[in-house]
Amino acid sequence: MAIRVVVLASGSGSLLKALLDAQDESFEVVALVTDNPEAGAIGHAARAGVQVAVIDLVDFENREAWDLALADCIDYYQPELVVSAGFMRVIGGAGVSRFAGRLINTHPALLPAFPGAHAVKDALAAGVKETGSTIHFVDPGVDTGPVIVQKVVAVLDGDDEASLHERIKVVERELLVEVVKDFAGPKKYFK
Ligand code: GRF
Repeated sequence: MAIRVVVLASGSGSLLKALLDAQDESFEVVALVTDNPEAGAIGHAARAGVQVAVIDLVDFENREAWDLALADCIDYYQPELVVSAGFMRVIGGAGVSRFAGRLINTHPALLPAFPGAHAVKDALAAGVKETGSTIHFVDPGVDTGPVIVQKVVAVLDGDDEASLHERIKVVERELLVEVVKDFAGPKKYFK
């Protein structure tokens, strides 16, 4: 029986597309939930016939109301696994507690190095020769949850933020599919 996966994305959605393209008997992306009505990810979901829900901060009185609406929206799809893939909001307490142990995030750096929204730029600025991709459980912090798996990506001479980020995304897409399939099956990463 395929596990039900909800993906959270705010941007172009190439990681979402990688998951959509990799769906098989082990997992099914049942919905995209986004905070951004302009997200490119919406097109990928629509073309794949996947439901889309927009939970836009501007529609809510305050952050707590948005947190709760996001958690309720995700819950509606009854996911076994929630994947944050380029979701540019910190998921608040309501979501973190409700989906503990089945809420994962992908981050374009080797956490704990370079947390936050500018990981690739920060790694370049730091002059490191290696960075990479991290998939981790989401906890109440920002990019602080337990690491599930990491993979190193070399920083090449002449790299700028775009070239380095795209090379990291290639690795992220592979790792994300591997981790989701593992969650649905052998669970070598999810003791
Ligand atoms: C990924 O690198 C993710 O780690 C970061 O945002 C990027 C999303 O890429 N948080 P895309 O929108 O899936 O192409």
